[in-house]
Amino acid sequence: MSEFKRYLVTTALPYANGPVHIGHLAGVYIPADIYVRYLRLRGRDAVFIGGSDEHGVPITIKARQEGISPQDVVDRYHALIRDSFERFGISFDIYSRTTSKIHHQTASEFFRKLYDDGKFVEKETEQYYDGEARQFLADRYITGTCPHCGNERAYGDQCEQCGTSLNATDLINPRSALSGSAPVMKPTRHWYLPLNRYEPFLKEWILEGHKEWKANVYGQCKSWLDLGLQPRAVTRDLDWGVPVPVEGAGGKVLYVWFDAPIGYISNTRELLPDTWQDYWKSEDCKMVHFIGKDNIVFHCIIFPAMLRAEGSFILPENVPANEFLNLENDKISTSHNWAVWLHEYLDDFPDKEDVLRYALTANAPETKDNNFTWKDFQDRNNNELVAIYGNFVNRALVLTQKYFGGVVPEVAELTDYDRETLAGIAAIRASVESSLENFRFREGLKEAMTLARLGNKYLADTEPWKLIKTDEARVKTILNIALQLAANMALLSEPFLPFSSARLREMLLMPQTAWDCIGNSDLLAAGRQLGEPFLLFEKIEDKAIETQLKRLADTKVANEKNSYRAAAAKPDISYDGFSTMDIRVGTILEASRVPKTDKLMKLLVDTGIDKRTIVSGIAAYFTPEELPGKQVCVLVNLAPRRLKGIDSQGMILLAEDADGKLIFVTPEKAVTSGVAVR
Ligand code: 2FM
Ligand code: ZN
Repeated sequence: MSEFKRYLVTTALPYANGPVHIGHLAGVYIPADIYVRYLRLRGRDAVFIGGSDEHGVPITIKARQEGISPQDVVDRYHALIRDSFERFGISFDIYSRTTSKIHHQTASEFFRKLYDDGKFVEKETEQYYDGEARQFLADRYITGTCPHCGNERAYGDQCEQCGTSLNATDLINPRSALSGSAPVMKPTRHWYLPLNRYEPFLKEWILEGHKEWKANVYGQCKSWLDLGLQPRAVTRDLDWGVPVPVEGAGGKVLYVWFDAPIGYISNTRELLPDTWQDYWKSEDCKMVHFIGKDNIVFHCIIFPAMLRAEGSFILPENVPANEFLNLENDKISTSHNWAVWLHEYLDDFPDKEDVLRYALTANAPETKDNNFTWKDFQDRNNNELVAIYGNFVNRALVLTQKYFGGVVPEVAELTDYDRETLAGIAAIRASVESSLENFRFREGLKEAMTLARLGNKYLADTEPWKLIKTDEARVKTILNIALQLAANMALLSEPFLPFSSARLREMLLMPQTAWDCIGNSDLLAAGRQLGEPFLLFEKIEDKAIETQLKRLADTKVANEKNSYRAAAAKPDISYDGFSTMDIRVGTILEASRVPKTDKLMKLLVDTGIDKRTIVSGIAAYFTPEELPGKQVCVLVNLAPRRLKGIDSQGMILLAEDADGKLIFVTPEKAVTSGVAVR
């Protein structure tokens, strides 16, 4: 057992400027929920803290784009995120928000203590200022030309065309996104946390004291520390956030990354107004931060330095950060809508919360980036949840129903094989425990599933359906054992698959039982009536998967269209050069595919001058039947060319859509064939 009396488990506070997606779930919320559910089942005192991160520049940008207030933005997404987490069974003790009064108070007090204790350094720097909008500009609010690739719409922090991170001062011809005017440099004062002063402490605490942290986390910390830490500004010129509680600091707020982690403290205070300090200020408490890899520096270096500077708080014992999850081989992106959104999943797959929990845990990006595919999701459900877990439980229950009216049968005599099977439960439990205590959730889930595999094997080996005619006493023993395995499975899989465990307990008419009972072979007393068996998991058909893949394909097309950039213009020509081209409106009379080609269509066109044959590469986009009667533009004086044995006399003008599809250029209304285009 652990030496800690209490546990404080936090999850990264998601920005309330969009819904949560499978990347968030796999990286942070599912592993944290598994861990907390496990701790609670073990009877440990654990609090599970969540909430929305409601400050920061992106939220103000979204509000401006939509013509609403930042508060409107966060109200909308906070509610959506909170509700979808709840529907999905993320068992927070509190899910609050950083616009709460108690958070503003807590963050403000925290800053003020550091300020009063002289822990900050004050510095004046020059920053871009928009004279028309009369405000300083965050990097995201400045656009200009990227010095690397020439993109004229690069942001002050990054060029999205070439991916380079930039400083606002790198931009050529910078413009304010607020007013469109050219910003000017103006001096401004800010408070900095001198991280360099905490470097020796952080090196000792992490590099010497926490060698057990995950390799990806330890490695990232080490490279930051090896590079050397610099003072970091913890305030910003902005009107959205926690106001800087210092006289004369009007128009300044705490930097979002300063106030957000303090949100963990505020939310604990809100949950436990009288006892929150038992968690935050007691060495008996083990604090664990669940986050994604982009948050490592904030949780392992900056926040601990803040806590250390403040002096009265504990530091995290572990920060089991995960890597990233991709979706169908592409980076998940909120702005490109390349994601599986939790609230949409919950609507599309009712009562299948555990299927997603299972697929995302089995494939969690624990040590490297991983990929979610809908095919894998379907396979995990059909070949593992249905075929292994569901199948075992169903056989045990249905056979008991059929042979013994759903009453748990008596054990007559145990064979060595029976004993061995039952002993397997405790061994599996031990490995699940060791996996979970060490934040190896994929491994833990895999181990838990071995109990269902054991059950299937036991039934397949003992074949009660064959023995029932000759040896009823033996069948009673077998089914008793199978039911005990199922009951143990309900407990063991509870942290991972809580909805299915509840359903299984319902079938077994079994109350919620402590983790420590796992391994018992008498969880279900003989003679007890069981509930009605029903299927724990259902097959997911191809159609459901195709619907999801179609949605992603549509997103891809829409994104390609949005990102379409016109090619640069060709060199200038004279009017005379242009006028050598004789373009007429023609009418298609007949159309047929050119045999043995995919692309070519043979057309008979009335050009007004004559009726001629033209071969055009449009067969992938039109059927021959829909073409006769269509008016098109024809370059009639293009020298004839022979294509697939046909003389083509001229060329039909076509526009190429953003996704490569060809469409005709046609006159706005019907005209006589042969009229000129100029
Ligand atoms: O990366 C993010 O989504 C941040 N909103 C996480 C904040 S975690 C904590 F500090 F609140
Ligand atoms: Zn660029």
